[in-house]
Amino acid sequence: MLITNDQEPVTTIAEPPRRIVGLRPNQLSVYHHPARFRVVVAGRRFGKSQLALVEMLRAAATPNSRIWYVGPSYDQAKRILWDRLKAITRPHWAGKPSETELTVRMNTGSQISLRGTDRPDSIRGNGLDFAVMDEYASMHPSAWSKVLRPALSDRLGRALFLGTPQGSNHFYDLYKKALADPQWGTFQFTTSQGGNVPPEELASAAIDLDPESFRQEFEAAFTSAAMNRVYYGFDPVSNVQAVQYDPYIPLVWSLDFNINPMCMLLMQRSDDTVYVLDEIIIKPDANTELACQAFHKRARALNPNRMQVEIYGDASGNQRRTSSVNTDWTIIKNFLGQFPTLYHPTFHLPKANPAVRDRINCVNTRLRNTAGDARLFVDPKCRELIKDLEQVSWALDANDRPSSNIDKSDGDRTHSSDALGYYVSEAFPMRGSVGPNASGRIV
Ligand SMILES: Nc1ncnc2c1ncn2[C@@H]1O[C@H](COP(=O)(O)OP(=O)(O)O)[C@@H](O)[C@H]1O
Ligand SMILES: [Mg+2]
Repeated sequence: MLITNDQEPVTTIAEPPRRIVGLRPNQLSVYHHPARFRVVVAGRRFGKSQLALVEMLRAAATPNSRIWYVGPSYDQAKRILWDRLKAITRPHWAGKPSETELTVRMNTGSQISLRGTDRPDSIRGNGLDFAVMDEYASMHPSAWSKVLRPALSDRLGRALFLGTPQGSNHFYDLYKKALADPQWGTFQFTTSQGGNVPPEELASAAIDLDPESFRQEFEAAFTSAAMNRVYYGFDPVSNVQAVQYDPYIPLVWSLDFNINPMCMLLMQRSDDTVYVLDEIIIKPDANTELACQAFHKRARALNPNRMQVEIYGDASGNQRRTSSVNTDWTIIKNFLGQFPTLYHPTFHLPKANPAVRDRINCVNTRLRNTAGDARLFVDPKCRELIKDLEQVSWALDANDRPSSNIDKSDGDRTHSSDALGYYVSEAFPMRGSVGPNASGRIV
């Protein structure tokens, strides 16, 4: 029989053995489900990765088992789980874990290894007894069918899929198929059903996020609005209006470095509201010098006096550019430095760009929060930005499902909205207070 979230959490199971006492009731209902293949669709911080750890520990108790934890990328798998895996397995080690192979050898002869689908060779092999696929919605869809499923065949290995919905992509397909197949166990849990995030923190996250994002990220819903349009929070009626420059507050200059086109936005911020005053598009042969001159001209037209300029933008390299990011930022610094009586610049660059999905969530949240309020206004003359917000969409996969990659087939699209995202995600990062060990950001 399938256990779904329509039923009460399992409360009748006997007191579990000591080492799984740490799982909460809904995690336990997955843990005790006998199906060979199980799918858990759950909100952020439900406790999916924690469940993965305890499941792997149990599998390792069977002598000479081979167990894999697979994430979308090797680096992500390492970041999410390696320290936690070592901590939970330490009493059972046969020797020191291998830091190069991300493998723990246990005194039962079993091995637990971390893998990433971005390194297809690392997930080839056979003789697997148990595979956990974490953040499955962000993985390449063929990793399971082409590589991992066959690896489980010879030893009739088990598999556990964990993830938070991401539109109606391959994770949705897998979940739907599993629902119809009595051989599979299926579960759907909200973040709150995990018991790790207090209700008041969840409530404040709800106010901070747009409704679609909240339903997807915290209520584990396969939302339809999130399906194809990237900036689904955008509504021309509420988000487009004439914006006035205010000489008493800093001017924000955000850049997406490209050769064709280079896009820059001039913005201002008042409390938690963003005003996009103007956009500057340079094509077909942009460079950072030209960008500086164009900025200078517009900035002078706005305000002939000395102004404070906050600079934001792309923090990482990009194959469509010729120079390095550091060179670009140095050119800008030197350019503005020539006019100490006109500009007081400050640079606001993250060490690395945020994940694309987080950047987009931040923009959607500014466009419309759960209460329905717009906190981002775009002047009608920003034509390319408005087109981006209306048209940028997710690329479709082989089954015509939205993938987790943005459709870049139209070379004019995505650049203005990228410039907007660099600013918004840095100035208004996702709320960081959710969850017991939360630090800085929600993810
Ligand atoms: N059963 C549990 N008991 C105590 N803390 C837990 C439990 N499950 C998860 N947590 C904690 O809750 C937080 C979120 O868990 P995690 O497994 O990372 O969630 P997810 O992978 O669903 O985002 C982590 O800090 C984790 O240590
Ligand atoms: Mg996790």
